[in-house]
Amino acid sequence: MSTMKVCWELFNAIEIEEDGSVYLCCDHRLRKQAIGNIFKDNFDNIWNGDFVQKLREEALKGQYPHCNPKLCTYLANGDDRLFTDKEPNYKPALDYYPKRIAFPMGKDCNAKCIFCRDEIISSSKEEVENFNRLIDEIYIPISKNLEILTVNDGGDAFGSKFSRDLIAKFVKTYPNLKFKIMTNGICATKEFIQELNLENKMFELDISINTVNPETHYKIFRIKNGFNAIVKNLEYLATLKEKNLIPSFHLKFVVCNYNWKEMIQFVKFARKYHANCDFWEVRDYKNNCLENKIEDMSVHFETHPDYKKFKKLLSDPIFDSKDTTLSPVLTKIRNEEIERVKNTISYKIKKFFYNIKKNK
Ligand SMILES: C[S@@+](CC[C@H](N)C(=O)[O-])C[C@H]1O[C@@H](n2cnc3c(N)ncnc32)[C@H](O)[C@@H]1O
Ligand code: SF4
Repeated sequence: MSTMKVCWELFNAIEIEEDGSVYLCCDHRLRKQAIGNIFKDNFDNIWNGDFVQKLREEALKGQYPHCNPKLCTYLANGDDRLFTDKEPNYKPALDYYPKRIAFPMGKDCNAKCIFCRDEIISSSKEEVENFNRLIDEIYIPISKNLEILTVNDGGDAFGSKFSRDLIAKFVKTYPNLKFKIMTNGICATKEFIQELNLENKMFELDISINTVNPETHYKIFRIKNGFNAIVKNLEYLATLKEKNLIPSFHLKFVVCNYNWKEMIQFVKFARKYHANCDFWEVRDYKNNCLENKIEDMSVHFETHPDYKKFKKLLSDPIFDSKDTTLSPVLTKIRNEEIERVKNTISYKIKKFFYNIKKNK
């Protein structure tokens, strides 16, 4: 007998926007309306409001009429990763608080990546004070059932006073809480991590590095000596990974015109630090690709002058490795290229040597 699966999000997660709007979905764009405003409404009325109860009631019957199947990748693709077994405590009105909350943490960051922004963003003292007030008065009280706190908003987890304050307060209040952190790694120092008491609390750590080369790093992040700082931090973080204190450790790479030739070296670089690596393409979030035009940066566009060479590089067997993930867009380009070259001698030889190495 098959157990009925229901969308986990509706019973466990919320997302809060800068203006206090609360959304009941992994991605608030999927829903037309906010379920309340955390700055104005009582949280119990938001979390168990009439509309929310209706959504849960429908989900418990296997119905999702208010969700948008065109936008929800899970509904659209029949991808059931989010759909989990119906728990006995799943009711329209829940007697527990969210297990996952995405808090708004501003855009503060110590870097200015070419595909993200064109200036260093740093909030004023008043803004940081106001944020701290929100943490104490609103965010901490609604987090009593939180299991994992995700810190990967628009800014940097360690390069922002906002998120460092948030992490410090949550560690102090909820010592058993785990963190999922995304950072450029420049300030992920032993000192900071120990001071924040985070050594055994990082369930997942993702570090965006995008290169194996200090010069490329400067070209992308536009911060001096960033790469050397990261290497020092990685040496320390690798020791935590070795002790199994960071179960999921990933180095991230946004592929663009400056770095694509370094992708293979990056896989080997990540292995040195016991990390997996993830590649995805530079994306056009409209107002963020500032230094160059998106067409010039996007080596994955067929029209880019380096596209053919890029495709060839992607066909390398190293990207078959279990510790390496390519985005769907990069996977598609790779699969097409492999289909084209799979019977050539050079591809077969490469694959042969890769398999020998892998089985050693
Ligand atoms: C906005 S950052 C925030 C977290 C942290 N500061 C970092 O860099 O990891 C999240 C991720 O988005 C990536 N990113 C930023 N702008 C992008 C773009 N236009 N296209 C693709 N990825 C982008 C960054 O490289 C990073 O891996
Ligand atoms: S991508 Fe991350 S590190 Fe780079 S500027 Fe944006 S927030 Fe900062």
